Amino acid sequence: MRTVRLSASLLAADLGRIEDEVKRLEEAQVDSIHLDVMDGHFVPYFALGPDVVQAVRKMTRLPLEVHLMIQQPDRYAQSFIEAGADLLIVHLESYHDPKRTIALIQEMGCRCGLAINPMTLVENTYSLLKTTDQLLCMSVNPGFMGQPFIIEVLEKVRVARAFRDKHHLHFDISIDGGVTDETVGPCVTAGANQVVVGRPILSPKDASEATRLLRARANEVGAGG
Ligand code: DX5
Ligand code: ZN
Repeated sequence: MRTVRLSASLLAADLGRIEDEVKRLEEAQVDSIHLDVMDGHFVPYFALGPDVVQAVRKMTRLPLEVHLMIQQPDRYAQSFIEAGADLLIVHLESYHDPKRTIALIQEMGCRCGLAINPMTLVENTYSLLKTTDQLLCMSVNPGFMGQPFIIEVLEKVRVARAFRDKHHLHFDISIDGGVTDETVGPCVTAGANQVVVGRPILSPKDASEATRLLRARANEVGAGG
């Protein structure tokens, strides 16, 4: 049976009450916390920096995955690792040498994921997937939460899953953006073993109930697949 891990995106949290929000996610038993970093260049807005990662690190033992929607992620990797990231996700499309950046991050003892935008072909990642710990398929355009899920991305996930199985590779396949109790099932069917969820977990008062519903919907499909 296929199961799915749920990573909660703090972008949807009330940062003025960040400690309570992290506690809420712990109680809801999410599998990890996803922190979106934006630099105003790779995406139009700004969000979070190593100081916030460090603050969250002190609040929880949940794994922290840091999604770097920034140019030149190699320049900033060390700061985020020292702040306590367990996984750094870099974009294929940003300005850097992805192969070197992945090696650099892993040499510093951190796991490394590779993200691709909705319009980027998954085939462009093939030469990097042997060493990558996670492939993150963006199912919305990066930089904004609360956007509708781009369904065409599921075909890329199917292709990535087939590539992984064919070559006996072990990278996780994650989907980020617009994942709800409606879209989580198709994500699992397509071959994802993780989804990133922002608003659907953090907007409702009861994050635990929202998480249970997402898991139930994912498992309905997983039992068959
Ligand atoms: C988009 C971010 C996502 C986003 C997900 O740029 O990478 O992590 O916060 O939020 P929802 O689940 O609300 O679409
Ligand atoms: Zn993200």
